[in-house]
Amino acid sequence: MLTPQQVSQYHQDGYLVLPGLFSADEVAAMKAELRRIQDIDTDHLVRERSGGMAKTIYRVHDAASPTASPLFRAAALSPRLLGSARQLLDDAALYIHHTKCNLKSAIDGSVWQWHQDYGAWKRDGIAEPHMTTALVMLDAATELNGCLYFIPGSQRLGYIESEMDDRTTAYRLWVVPKPDLLRIMEHSPEPVPILGRPGTVVFFHCNILHASGHNLSRHDRWHVYTVYNRSSNAPGEVPAPRPEYVRSVQSQALVMGGDEVLEAGRGG
Ligand code: SIN
Ligand code: MN
Repeated sequence: MLTPQQVSQYHQDGYLVLPGLFSADEVAAMKAELRRIQDIDTDHLVRERSGGMAKTIYRVHDAASPTASPLFRAAALSPRLLGSARQLLDDAALYIHHTKCNLKSAIDGSVWQWHQDYGAWKRDGIAEPHMTTALVMLDAATELNGCLYFIPGSQRLGYIESEMDDRTTAYRLWVVPKPDLLRIMEHSPEPVPILGRPGTVVFFHCNILHASGHNLSRHDRWHVYTVYNRSSNAPGEVPAPRPEYVRSVQSQALVMGGDEVLEAGRGG
């Protein structure tokens, strides 16, 4: 349960850092799940250009997915994540737009340019920027291993027209054009590195400007993202919609689970 101060800090800054939300045992179990899933041959998984390493794994929360994990489903439905998301979006009826595990691996893990997540989700047909993402750190996030950076309060600028960058990383990403970015940065607080120990959770607004750098360290930086949207804000029809694993149309309200995620993950 978040305090009113935490909720208002989120609305002010566009993000909220919650250290120690998941235990060492829970983090170890999540990492073991991703090691299992990363060998699966499926289009729900993107690999690094430089080799066969899994870079991004989608839809681990959904029992119908080839990448399904009961543990990540239980975490996504837990009061720690779903309960907090309900408070931050001020709505009890939420569903998951997607889950995404970014396994930014030692030396190989690459950059994400400055962007707002809503740049992609608006094009998914989602009418309002009423979405929040829960990031779970499975490794310590450091500046050297490619932590996220946020521009505090930038979600209050609203949506900024974006352009497709399909050149600078292995990802196709809707990024903020450089002239706009430079102008915004001139008038904004300095970007802050989002650091934390494994088990830290960070909620962030879908319009906050964020980016992350290359992993120059010898340590992996694995992050798991669960994106919550209001059921009332489910995607409308768009031409050539993205696949279900990034743009869920299953918008029925989630039922809250318990906090015993290890037990639930074992099918208990
Ligand atoms: C994102 O911006 O959505 C992910 C960036 C990262 O995992 O470093
Ligand atoms: Mn993003």
